[in-house]
Amino acid sequence: MIYIGSDHGGYLIKEHIKTYLTINKIDFEDCGTNSELSVDYPEFAHKVANSVSGDLNNSLGILVCGSGNGVNITANKHKNIRCALCWNSEIAALAKQHNNANIIALPGRYISTLEAEKIIHTFLNSTFEAGRHQNRINLIENE
Ligand code: RB5
Repeated sequence: MIYIGSDHGGYLIKEHIKTYLTINKIDFEDCGTNSELSVDYPEFAHKVANSVSGDLNNSLGILVCGSGNGVNITANKHKNIRCALCWNSEIAALAKQHNNANIIALPGRYISTLEAEKIIHTFLNSTFEAGRHQNRINLIENE
């Protein structure tokens, strides 16, 4: 299951990604927002992060805001969430291969719909390489 959310700055890209997911028969749940009216990005980032952390083995998240930073910072406050800000396919591949990111954050105002599609396609089709990368992930937790 993919949980997807955005603020107003990411709304149009979110809607485009929903079309991509639907065409590719990938299950998703839209956590809002539902228009381009101004909203506060933490609400939607928290919804997606809570959903993903509640089903870590079977879910991923997609978040979009204007820069990608607001939703990224918010999601990474959640335990067991590794959210990666990705602005191209190469970064998206590495986010999964090396960081085992379970949420991807996109800068909606700085990428085209085609770029967003490529980034999501790459993220969903890349595989965590584990090994030394798992050891590094184990070092992230500081609690
Ligand atoms: C909203 O104007 C903008 O601040 C937001 O989408 C995001 O870029 C925040 O980090």
